[in-house]
Amino acid sequence: MGLGADVPSGEREEPDVAGIVLVGGLGTRLRPITYSVPKQLIPVAGQPILYHAMDLLPPRVRRIVLACGYKAEAFRAYLAAHPYRRPVTLVPESTPLGTGGGLKNVAAEASDPFFLLNGDVIAGFDLEELWELLQEEGGLGAMSFLEVEDPSPYGVATFDGQGRVQRFVEKPPRESAPSRWINAGASLWRREVLGEIPGGREVSFEKEVLPGLLPRGILGKCYRAWWEDAGTPERLLHAQRLLFDHPRTDRFTPSARLPGARVVPPVAVGRGCAGEGATVGRYVTLGEGVRLGAGSQVEDSVLLDGVTVGEGARIVRSLVGPGYAVPPGAVVEGACLARVDPPG
Ligand code: GDD
Ligand code: MG
Repeated sequence: MGLGADVPSGEREEPDVAGIVLVGGLGTRLRPITYSVPKQLIPVAGQPILYHAMDLLPPRVRRIVLACGYKAEAFRAYLAAHPYRRPVTLVPESTPLGTGGGLKNVAAEASDPFFLLNGDVIAGFDLEELWELLQEEGGLGAMSFLEVEDPSPYGVATFDGQGRVQRFVEKPPRESAPSRWINAGASLWRREVLGEIPGGREVSFEKEVLPGLLPRGILGKCYRAWWEDAGTPERLLHAQRLLFDHPRTDRFTPSARLPGARVVPPVAVGRGCAGEGATVGRYVTLGEGVRLGAGSQVEDSVLLDGVTVGEGARIVRSLVGPGYAVPPGAVVEGACLARVDPPG
């Protein structure tokens, strides 16, 4: 009696920490591939961008919530066939709600605090550092930043002497960008932030909500590590090179077996591929059931499920959508090809 009030530390319950991942965008900059496959399910270095992104969430994140919009069913089907190593809940939205509206739509699933991640981001960051920062310094949230040459396609910030975000401007013209430090798309928030997002309509978190939150104290963690947002064909292929060059062997090692082919690593080969007499690599992902003709060459590219490549064809720095047939002898360079037509 009276004893046991102190729970031994080994038995103390871990706090519930959710990782919310935004995956509902249209992926317009990756059309025509994204007419059939949502951006985050395009494989790079052997698995979908989304799985690499989820790997970024620190171990204390026990459950993941996908804020889905466009092609929510494709995510559901992929996750059912390829379970992720942490539980993943999908929450769909019926009309596109933007990054803020998409977050608001999953509010019921959020923990306090919760991690928030753009589902197209890969990085060599340790996001546990955001947790430590928020615990130590307090405030509404902690965001990750990274210095880049041209900040204009991203959210750009300046910081005060205490390392808090002082100014934030989304996608400024290059000449008026206030710094070269960009929002890396991974952050940690107190649950109360959800009350600051208008409900029931499309909201850009970065444009409409974030600037007004700065007086509440948002910490900036400036990382110096590899990073990419896989939102365009060039960036997606760069993300693939980065992932191949920084493999997480503790988590996932893709197969590089393609009997009868000349394989130049690093390469990731999906199930049921054939490539007798072909040359594959460096930096190539083949989806499932890809067939490469004799004498064909594939380098620095991603070929999705069911692609066929005719004899002697050459594919470099390209993305090829599911089921596409590359004719014999074709030369495909710097292209983004898909079989499907836009809807309507
Ligand atoms: N649920 C939902 N609903 N998700 C969405 C919606 C939507 O309407 N619109 C976009 N998303 C998802 C995208 O699928 C993506 O995973 C994430 O939100 C970010 O959207 P992007 O369209 O990729 O934004 P961005 O790359 O132009 O800019 C964002 O990311 C940059 C870093 O990668 C911003 O957060 C920038 O500030 C940031 O620098
Ligand atoms: Mg993006």
